[in-house]
Amino acid sequence: MGEDSSSGPRHIAIIMDGNGRWAHQRGGPRAHGHQAGFRNTRDIVEACGKLQIESLTLFAFSSENWKRPEKEVGFLLDLFLRALQSEVAKLHENNVVITFIGERSAFSSKLQLQMQKAEEKTENNSGLKLAIAVNYGGRWDIVNATKKIAEAVQQGTITLDEIDQALFNDYVSLAHNSEPDLFIRTGGEKRISNYLLWHLAYTELYFTDVLWPDFSEDELKKALEFYAGRQRRFGRTGEQVVNHNA
Ligand code: IPE
Ligand code: IPE
Ligand code: MG
Repeated sequence: MGEDSSSGPRHIAIIMDGNGRWAHQRGGPRAHGHQAGFRNTRDIVEACGKLQIESLTLFAFSSENWKRPEKEVGFLLDLFLRALQSEVAKLHENNVVITFIGERSAFSSKLQLQMQKAEEKTENNSGLKLAIAVNYGGRWDIVNATKKIAEAVQQGTITLDEIDQALFNDYVSLAHNSEPDLFIRTGGEKRISNYLLWHLAYTELYFTDVLWPDFSEDELKKALEFYAGRQRRFGRTGEQVVNHNA
């Protein structure tokens, strides 16, 4: 699973952070930062397609972001809906497979329908797998998987003994993707903020002070260079890895 960093990451997971500070630096409202962040997201998705990245998972709205001022939450949800309406056709043309991860029952039925339509329209594409995390939390994901497994045990579909890491993995989000090889967080904070807790166990972590609206294709290439310089040992010794690759 992308064990050799020299071949480049198959799956990149990003926390797109710093929109608010970007706007603040310009003396504008936070909404301007989100708008600029959205435009940049479009560019980075395109760049990942061009670079033949297999999977890209983006954190768009966390389960904790509901705590923001009502006006900002409203703006973000509205921007999300508008983005779905304006971008899906083009993404489909570019062969992108769109999925959403997170608890979507919290959203309006209109938004849920748009999400479902985007997924259905693009499900048979064979290009970049783009997963958007909305109302997503890593802890929610683990609890949600646990509930589904408990239900399957209760119904007798699986037995207690069958529960192992591979089975558990089938019940968390992104079960059909490879594990993220490279994690990127923009905006300077060095934390995971309840993102893909289960999935990031052995992911290479890249943090940059660059604010999301400024995270250009060149910045993405810097992250890829960082990744190429890593030796992924997965618990083994460096010598074992070198001999294994030789
Ligand atoms: C990330 O940027 C976007 C979302 C969380 C939706 P922020 O809005 O968190 O930007 P900062 O961290 O305040 O600069
Ligand atoms: C994480 O960013 C969530 C998204 C980028 C969608 P936050 O800006 O919400 O993270 P914290 O709260 O500063 O950790
Ligand atoms: Mg932030």
